[in-house]
Amino acid sequence: MSKAGQKETPDRMERIVNLAKRRGLVFQSSEIYGGLNSCWDYGPVGVELRRNVKEAWWREMVWSRGDIVGIDCSILMHPRVWEASGHVAGFTDPMVDCKKCKSRFRADHAELLEKHAESCDGELTEARQFNLMFRTYMGPVEESANEVFLRPETAQGMFVNFGNVLDTQRRKLPFGIAQQGKSFRNEITPGNFLFRTREFEQMEMEYFVRPGEESQWYEYWKKERFDWYIRLGIKPENLRLREHESDELAHYAKGCADVEYQFPFGWSELEGIASRTDFDLKQHSEFSGKDLSYFDEESRERFAPYVIEPAAGADRATLAFLVDAYDEDEVEGETRVVLRLHPRLAPVKVAVLPLLRKNGQPEKAQEIFAHLRPHMVAQYDQAGSIGRRYRRQDEIGTPFAITIDHDTMENGTVTLRDRDETSQERVHESDLLSELLRRTAGS
Ligand code: GAP
Repeated sequence: MSKAGQKETPDRMERIVNLAKRRGLVFQSSEIYGGLNSCWDYGPVGVELRRNVKEAWWREMVWSRGDIVGIDCSILMHPRVWEASGHVAGFTDPMVDCKKCKSRFRADHAELLEKHAESCDGELTEARQFNLMFRTYMGPVEESANEVFLRPETAQGMFVNFGNVLDTQRRKLPFGIAQQGKSFRNEITPGNFLFRTREFEQMEMEYFVRPGEESQWYEYWKKERFDWYIRLGIKPENLRLREHESDELAHYAKGCADVEYQFPFGWSELEGIASRTDFDLKQHSEFSGKDLSYFDEESRERFAPYVIEPAAGADRATLAFLVDAYDEDEVEGETRVVLRLHPRLAPVKVAVLPLLRKNGQPEKAQEIFAHLRPHMVAQYDQAGSIGRRYRRQDEIGTPFAITIDHDTMENGTVTLRDRDETSQERVHESDLLSELLRRTAGS
């Protein structure tokens, strides 16, 4: 039974975390040393899933468009960047300590306050502002003059390179600059598996437009970004767009909306789409002393473009795709766990399975496996009953499994099994590659 749409029990999240560990999607970081709080490692299956999420985003945001280019900036940036962006002064969360049990948590989360009150009657300190940026030192001398920050967002890389992109790529408004990469935030209360961690990957795009055209582009990007998740298989009933109230807006934002997903722990932000005005480019012009304005050939005017920013998280998106795909149904009288991932996101596209470990079937299967491997992620498995092997592939979301059996040896056909329907059809081995490429959307 699919559980989509209804209120989930936390139990479901636990089952997903267990599956992630059991099948090599996600492990706790430094597990043999007892783990490091809220840090996670992607295993051989998980790394493919997150790569596919990132590639689907890049394909959509960069390759398939003519108006957006990509960049990849260093994580360490000049400390003045974070003064100009407002992060040194304002990237803070209010934090309280319990005088009795010594726990420390965010003061602006009612549910955390309630949870604490249920287990402890200790008095809380006044809320203090805590800056979320990680600090480190550049070079061998640990003094404040050498202090640098691990970037808390990828966005500033696009703003400080605005002039470089303009000069080298001959772009006209509107155009965008996209980037994917690690960001770091010393979150006071991380948690919920991959949802809130201190090290995570972002997928951000800054879209530069003429002042006065920002509202139309804000509407455009909200729809585009919402639809992207649906196209990749998120159930519409689990996705919503929530416009921020005016008191939620960041100091630079004219408008902001979150794409929210109904996680087992409640509706939560997947991605933010912000209308950031000309705040960032003007700040960096002022702080760096370098002109970051744009000369418009049409109107013969010079101005700082306005910015619309869709900002997503690769890990959060991966978690949402995982949660949404997780299903339990019944096959041949037994409960089966299956990840109904979109074929483009599936970590492994096809499993190659000899029915028997004899009669030349393993050799034939190896030959087919070698033929498919250069074109798609494939797995070979000959261990255990065919039913058990299908179940293993269902659990990691492999959309297709091919079986090499007696008939293959006779007439060159194999069975092609569909993960969702569990139906099987016979396909000639000479048609297999093109058939699989077609069904997995060339991924
Ligand atoms: N440049 C704007 C910006 O960074 P944000 O809403 O703070 O906006 C964008 O972050 C996205 O990055 C979020 O919607 C989320 O998907 C992801 N993200 C932010 N903090 C995160 C964390 N601690 N752990 C995992 N993902 C996070």
